[in-house]
Amino acid sequence: MGPVSSRLPVFPWDRLDPYKAEAAAHPDGIVDLSVGTPVDPVPELIRRALADAADSPGYPTVWGTPALRDALTGWAERRLGARDLAHGNVLPVVGSKELVAWLPTQLGLGPGDKVAYPRLAYPTYEVGARLAGAEPVVYDEPTELDPAGVKLLWLNSPSNPTGRVLTADELRRAVAWAREHGILVFSDECYLELGWEAEPVSVLHPDVCGGSYEGIVAVHSLSKRSNLAGYRAAFLAGDAAVLGELLTIRKHGGMMVAAPVQAATVAALGDSAHVAEQRERYARRRAALRTAFEGAGFRIEHSEASLYLWATRDEPCWDTVADLAKRGILVAPGDFYGAAGERFVRIAFTATDERVAAAVARLAEG
Ligand SMILES: Cc1ncc(COP(=O)(O)O)c(C=O)c1O
Repeated sequence: MGPVSSRLPVFPWDRLDPYKAEAAAHPDGIVDLSVGTPVDPVPELIRRALADAADSPGYPTVWGTPALRDALTGWAERRLGARDLAHGNVLPVVGSKELVAWLPTQLGLGPGDKVAYPRLAYPTYEVGARLAGAEPVVYDEPTELDPAGVKLLWLNSPSNPTGRVLTADELRRAVAWAREHGILVFSDECYLELGWEAEPVSVLHPDVCGGSYEGIVAVHSLSKRSNLAGYRAAFLAGDAAVLGELLTIRKHGGMMVAAPVQAATVAALGDSAHVAEQRERYARRRAALRTAFEGAGFRIEHSEASLYLWATRDEPCWDTVADLAKRGILVAPGDFYGAAGERFVRIAFTATDERVAAAVARLAEG
């Protein structure tokens, strides 16, 4: 048997290294708008909760503390409009990337099974399918998929990379189609709190799921809403039977969220003030970058939510990457997210105000 890594594509970010080096050589330094990694401080109340739980000598549980489960169900009911969630409807995970990459394997999918995800998508959906030996398939519209062999359907609204938001109606149609064909839906909603020109809706909202969680699970992450990418804090909410099965498997696999991170998650989900504050920062940076890139001849598509501008100058994405790197600005080429993105770049607004101002000034210089 060949090494498992041979099933996987080249790690895309390695291909950006030469451009990163070129951008870093700019006399005023690089403005890195490529990876969507938070740069602002972890809110004080979250750090305090983490520190207060530092004396955690024993093993945490995979299901999390009862306080954590209360925080997860409470937040999902308040923020997503989900109704009547019990502890059996939630499961903490060690960051959502881990979950996306290993879910097909944990569900027992393999050769002959298909995992479907959007044509332009976060690359880890494909990685998860390939790690399990299942077949990755892409869709433009989920209900147009041939359902034969499809075992898992990924939805992602707001979308990475395009920032597109699916309406409640579009989500409802996708969920109804999947239920009709007995296909499990996982809805990656990690940018749900970052809607700018649209209000993202969860699959757990009664308008979408009809008040039943059968066959649906929402994936949430604290990485973006609470600047906690370094903590690896995420969770699932939805179908109790699916989550019960995953809990059993994950217990055997030892996939435990660290106890101090569990405590930090409780604090983070109990507070919305820091989310509003962070949103304000991103809204300012987004507006400044949007104006600057449009002024520099870019057209922005979708981008009504998430942490990105999906932009094109109607040329191959690597030409755009190369040109911007000369000006010390690093962006992600659209083909990282699928061949359909080959004439787009993804511009993250996860950079400090000072770096965003530097990018704006460089773009204005032409
Ligand atoms: C669509 C999507 N899902 C999941 C993740 C993973 O986030 P995390 O592992 O930090 O929870 C990301 C990160 O960028 C993402 O864009």
